[in-house]
Amino acid sequence: MTDPVTIEPPRGKLGVMLPGLGAVATTFIAGVYAIRKGISKPIGSLSQMGTVRLGKRTEKRVPKIKDFVELAGLDDLVFGGWDIFDDNVYLAARKAGVLNKDLLDEVRFDLEEIKPWKAVFDQGFVKKLSGDNVKEAPTKFELAQLLMEDIRNFKEIHGLDRLVMIWCASTEVFLEPDAVHQTLGAFEQAMKDNHPAIAPSMIYAYAAIASGVPFANGAPNLTVDIPALIEYAREKKVPIAGKDFKTGQTLMKTILAPGLKARLIGLNGWFSTNILGNRDGEVLDDPESFKTKEESKLSVLEHILQPELYPDLYEDFYHKVRINYYPPRGDNKEGWDNLDIFGWLGYPMQIKIDFLCRDSILAAPIVLDLILFLDLAQRSGMKGIQEWLSFYFKSPHCAPELYPEHDLFIQLMKLKNTLRYLKGEDLITHLGLEYYD
Ligand SMILES: NC(=O)c1ccc[n+]([C@@H]2O[C@H](COP(=O)([O-])OP(=O)(O)OC[C@H]3O[C@@H](n4cnc5c(N)ncnc54)[C@H](O)[C@@H]3O)[C@@H](O)[C@H]2O)c1
Repeated sequence: MTDPVTIEPPRGKLGVMLPGLGAVATTFIAGVYAIRKGISKPIGSLSQMGTVRLGKRTEKRVPKIKDFVELAGLDDLVFGGWDIFDDNVYLAARKAGVLNKDLLDEVRFDLEEIKPWKAVFDQGFVKKLSGDNVKEAPTKFELAQLLMEDIRNFKEIHGLDRLVMIWCASTEVFLEPDAVHQTLGAFEQAMKDNHPAIAPSMIYAYAAIASGVPFANGAPNLTVDIPALIEYAREKKVPIAGKDFKTGQTLMKTILAPGLKARLIGLNGWFSTNILGNRDGEVLDDPESFKTKEESKLSVLEHILQPELYPDLYEDFYHKVRINYYPPRGDNKEGWDNLDIFGWLGYPMQIKIDFLCRDSILAAPIVLDLILFLDLAQRSGMKGIQEWLSFYFKSPHCAPELYPEHDLFIQLMKLKNTLRYLKGEDLITHLGLEYYD
């Protein structure tokens, strides 16, 4: 046992701000209201349903995570957000078509109350969308000030104690890191100069950090994963996390690939294709937005399989990811995976996966957990990149000298050990020899 970290108690209300009130955000918000009303349960949420083992197995101490660490309660969450369309959250949820009308009608009044604030948007970054609920200002720096005004107003109107922001807006076009992303000074100057390498998502992230608000990025855009904003977050004592919610096909990949590697099964190729028909699918139909997503999805296997350490098993495996926009499917995606693997003496085998999944249903509990854990991190004095939240992301942020950890099971162990550390409990090593002395 070590001394626990001092954690400020979660007093008062926690404001949740979501840039992008589309399928994921509305499914999340409606879900929280349904859970509050006792209509449904928080399935898929580690913070609500997960447990953490403490001490030796013989001690039989396995509390629920929400009873172990001081998390904000679901009743204390207040929602707000920005979108380029001015539909309230009830209408947006109806249009997203994820949750059925009966369920939405049970929480209709609450959802109708949430009307999107005007967004910071530039069609150059999301080619397939245009909307008119958009802020106007001469420079990107001034747009950031307008977002900060929204943040202050939200806090004041609802009497909020603390805030968190999670990017749930569309995937932006692929951006390479640029010189203006390297330092805060260069970044702020670039905002004032309307530099093309400053994406709208970066303006939100900057406004959040400047306002002392933790920020997570649910999309694969660069956003907060640049030295200027990482440094700024440390300076302002703000926790940040990202990027790209790990749901659907990539979740399956990071469950399966560690298993194949654990048993030293070789891989010749992994072909993944998806059909989906929601707005996200439409945005990803644009090659530049797809490139951002593709980079995020492709890196996972390389990192888990480590071909440089296991050349006989994983050198030159072929990895392809396709996303096809197919409107009839709506939010109910179908993801096919074909794996060409080989075993003892090189004998080939195949695995086929056909995952009929619902993307937003898988993403909503991630949004909830990130909000509660980022708030916990801030109350615990943690700042900058929160690698312990890698569990939730396809391309986890990590320190520049590290490679990201993609293995879901290592990520889970890291997350739970971080909670044990915060509370001064022994970390679990799984050695267990003491049981046999
Ligand atoms: N659903 C999943 O499983 C999953 C997994 C990983 C990542 N994501 C990412 O999460 C994001 C949201 O997914 P979704 O299915 O809800 O998409 P969606 O298209 O339904 O919602 C995105 C919303 O963002 C709005 N928007 C776009 N640019 C904006 C801006 N600059 N400011 C404010 N609003 C803006 C759009 O109008 C839209 O309403 C996407 O980037 C997606 O790639 C989703």
